[in-house]
Amino acid sequence: MSRIAYVDGQYLPLGEAGVPVEDRGLQFADAVYEVWALRGGRLLDHAGHLERLGRSLRELSIGWPVSPQALDVIVRELVRRNRVRDGLVYLQITRGTAPRDHPFPKEGSGPTLILTVRRKDPGAGDRRAAAGIKVRTMADIRWGRVDIKTTGLLANVLAKQAALEAGFDDAWLLDGQGRVTEGTAQNAWIVDADGVLRTRPLGNDILGGITRATVARIAAGLQMKVVEAPFTLAEALAAREAFITSATTYVTPVIAIDGQPVGSGVPGPVAQRLRAAYLLA
Ligand code: PDD
Repeated sequence: MSRIAYVDGQYLPLGEAGVPVEDRGLQFADAVYEVWALRGGRLLDHAGHLERLGRSLRELSIGWPVSPQALDVIVRELVRRNRVRDGLVYLQITRGTAPRDHPFPKEGSGPTLILTVRRKDPGAGDRRAAAGIKVRTMADIRWGRVDIKTTGLLANVLAKQAALEAGFDDAWLLDGQGRVTEGTAQNAWIVDADGVLRTRPLGNDILGGITRATVARIAAGLQMKVVEAPFTLAEALAAREAFITSATTYVTPVIAIDGQPVGSGVPGPVAQRLRAAYLLA
């Protein structure tokens, strides 16, 4: 069965779906996006992702192309039409199409809504989490508002590619003070030498991950101590455990950073427990 995409009111076979060349998403990355995990037919953290989408749109003064309630119906309909139970829902809203010019267009198509659904083997992510991933650190060269979930991801793409080419699974990005901001598409966490979970506080320099927020709540519910505080590369290397969170990786252990093992160099109990709890939540 061919995949079905949704573009501005129409459900279309993916190969026939498209946007005009002058769409501002293409011209300027003037667009926001969201990613939901679908697991066993369930959209994980559905409300949280919708809420963050609203924030991204507000920050960029892009209007809702349809109401959040209508969007909810479209997302579920698209999932149904694609018959996917395990995978990802990808959403993008661009500022729409208008002759290429930097200022927001006074006239134009209005915001463009694009949705796709992709099947994913849940076993692959579970196996990856069971093995743990190895990251390298790199300078964070992204712009100053990465708290807005825009499609302007070139720096993330380059960091990921460089990490893969160097034989790592991913990259952790470092700010000017040698502190970890986040991963290329995931929030970064450690379990420090005292057993305290640490992740960078919200600010303009990280994306406020929806998985991050849910995992923090779950951890607190399991009587784990969570502190929102930045950590340096040295602290990460001295940590008992490290892990990442995102809609695509849930909770996945990081077992080595820059070629040095974290803790005993195998997935740790805290990350494993949180992953299991997240997938049950
Ligand atoms: N990325 N940080 C960055 C830079 C991200 O791109 C993401 C998500 C996260 C985690 O956010 P959440 O827990 O809400 O997924 C943190 C998505 C999955 C992506 O770009 O594919």
